[in-house]
Amino acid sequence: MSEFILELKKVSRYFGSVIALKDIDMQVKMGEVHCLLGDNGAGKSTLIKTLAGVHVPSEGEFLLDGQPTCFNSPRSALDAGIATVYQDLALVPLMSVTRNFFMGRELTKKWGPFKVFDTKEANKIACAGLAEMGIDVRDPEHAIGTMSGGEKQCLAIARAIHFGAKVLILDEPTAALGVKQSANVLKVVAKAKAKGLAVILITHNVHHAYPVGDRFTLLNRGHSLGTFLKSDVSREEILEMMAGGQELEALESELEEFARLDSVKNSVTQEPEAAAIA
Ligand SMILES: Nc1ncnc2c1ncn2[C@@H]1O[C@H](COP(=O)(O)OP(=O)(O)O)[C@@H](O)[C@H]1O
Ligand SMILES: [Mg+2]
Repeated sequence: MSEFILELKKVSRYFGSVIALKDIDMQVKMGEVHCLLGDNGAGKSTLIKTLAGVHVPSEGEFLLDGQPTCFNSPRSALDAGIATVYQDLALVPLMSVTRNFFMGRELTKKWGPFKVFDTKEANKIACAGLAEMGIDVRDPEHAIGTMSGGEKQCLAIARAIHFGAKVLILDEPTAALGVKQSANVLKVVAKAKAKGLAVILITHNVHHAYPVGDRFTLLNRGHSLGTFLKSDVSREEILEMMAGGQELEALESELEEFARLDSVKNSVTQEPEAAAIA
């Protein structure tokens, strides 16, 4: 067994003339939360789609447990234990919590000559799977559309874990959530780690990544800025690297310039009034 469950070596991905990823090195260990951070357009989604079997790398090597691998479909990545939870979650709002939990992998029982969905057993399993992740389901037969955004994220994660994921990839799971719901999702991430899974958490929010992350890989315009252990890098340093320190400095001086122009304008417009009063 390799030290790393997933490893990318100098992986590049091009879309025509667009360089979405260039020479990315990344290693993921079991039992860690590996955060993938970067601004919009940095290449985060392209990178995880490469891990999840949606894209084939244009160049470079992809190793699964030390073996060179090439997934030709998301299904083959899933069969190898790599489960991805995308932002749209692939849930059906009008179907029940349990039905969504088992979607595509229905639990059946025999009923005379037929096979039917085993609702009672499925309800029990779905509730237990969710309870283990700290989610209390009022009624597993309620439509999933009645759950909050955070609960739906947690359900999608619990489902992946229940069906045997070894590596869990989460694409911006907290992007559309408020503070409390984000905290709930991050708790579920910590629980998945405690169960020994590898979690790859994609986000552009350092404040969400830092409390749960063990290591951080930073992407900037398709290039990796490196992978950092939490003990080696502070939240502020990550923010600085992500935003590009110079860009923030440029913004600050631009804002100062605006403020200066504003005060000049105000003093010009105030002068005639002052003269009139005199
Ligand atoms: N299917 C595609 N065809 C062409 N360009 C793409 C495609 N997917 C992504 N890109 C480009 O690759 C770059 C990285 O995109 P993406 O991986 O979605 O970034 P992120 O998820 O970090 O916001 C962007 O410039 C984007 O326009
Ligand atoms: Mg994206």
